[in-house]
Amino acid sequence: MSKIKVCLVGCGRIATLNVLGYKDNPDAELYAVCDLNRERAQAFAAEHGATKVYCDYAEVLQDPEIQVVDLLVPHHLHCKMTVQACEAGKHVSVQKPMAMSLEECDIMIGAAKKAGVKLKVYENFIFYPPYVKAKAMIDQGVIGDLQSIRIKMNAGVNKSGWKVSPDTWAWRMEESTSGGGELVFDDGNHKFSIARYFMGEPDSVFAFIGRTDMEGVVYEKKDGTKIQFYQDAPSVITWTCKDGNRCGVFDISWSKDMEIHTDYYACDERVEITGSKGVIWITRCTGKMLQVPTLILYKDGSTTEYNNLRDDWADSFIDSTRDFIEAIKNDRDPVLTGEDGREVLKFSLAAIRAAELKRPVEVDSMDDYKKGAN
Ligand SMILES: NC(=O)c1ccc[n+]([C@@H]2O[C@H](COP(=O)([O-])OP(=O)(O)OC[C@H]3O[C@@H](n4cnc5c(N)ncnc54)[C@H](O)[C@@H]3O)[C@@H](O)[C@H]2O)c1
Repeated sequence: MSKIKVCLVGCGRIATLNVLGYKDNPDAELYAVCDLNRERAQAFAAEHGATKVYCDYAEVLQDPEIQVVDLLVPHHLHCKMTVQACEAGKHVSVQKPMAMSLEECDIMIGAAKKAGVKLKVYENFIFYPPYVKAKAMIDQGVIGDLQSIRIKMNAGVNKSGWKVSPDTWAWRMEESTSGGGELVFDDGNHKFSIARYFMGEPDSVFAFIGRTDMEGVVYEKKDGTKIQFYQDAPSVITWTCKDGNRCGVFDISWSKDMEIHTDYYACDERVEITGSKGVIWITRCTGKMLQVPTLILYKDGSTTEYNNLRDDWADSFIDSTRDFIEAIKNDRDPVLTGEDGREVLKFSLAAIRAAELKRPVEVDSMDDYKKGAN
């Protein structure tokens, strides 16, 4: 069988990790790339061996060889470019957050269904091998009945990891292109996703979402307008779950003078899950702050360390990309489906709404919420 031909659209910062799952993949090949910036697209194609280079998405959609588009573009383009790809009969992988609103999610889900193509919401954290191992242990009852999850996100200063262009941050600072703050709405989408992965669907959510301007970090746009960079931290989000007597907390800090040990972004995660019989700690994902095994179990009065897991953040990308190719090949649902991606987005929107209202919000009430209308 010939390989599934993929076009990666948006050769920016994260493309370097999304592409890894196509390398040495027996079922897929990176056939084409597309970016508005021709030089960037050409350089990316040369580095990763893509045959074709596009700068106009309309031409990608007209290329009959392309079966899959992997969308790695700013959030305000996710809905429109997904729908266009579906209408052109292409399978779509779209980066998280799936869209800016639930209305957009519904349009995307409808477009994929109508066209009979697969829609994957590319949320890689749930593929991070220590999380996958922890989930299997929980499902086997190793820590008993789940009680609570604590997700801690530290953001700070990057000295060891990626150089990230101010252009990559700039569109995230404006709601019209990002849909919300970088740490809660954007990166937070991963954390709402893992919360749901471990604990099931959320019920009621309460949140404090802070804002800290990044002193002296101002971006000048081409039209001369200036954007003050900021972090939506410190923030704390708490929730109850629909199943069981369970709850969770997601706590975000940005420490302006603290270097984060990392190969990637200047952030790191720690997850602690408590059950009726034990506790699981999963340290690291994006960064490398704690120099301890990434998965530790406490049970029956002693700790067990899991030392031999694949635990580079890039592993989660490789496995997520491969999941989509396998989903197409075997005609199964990808992880996450459009419907799942919508639930994750709803969770984050409920947190943001709760912070605005300064009171708890039922996550499902967001189904009826129209921004600006109520
Ligand atoms: N899974 C993760 O951990 C993770 C991490 C970072 C970013 N992301 C997601 O990936 C996406 C891209 O983020 P990024 O940080 O790489 O952004 P970026 O700004 O670095 O790259 C975006 C690229 O898209 C290109 N582009 C914009 N409009 C286009 C169009 N119409 N046609 C073709 N190309 C176009 C830009 O020129 C740019 O090269 C976002 O959805 C973001 O949320 C996910």
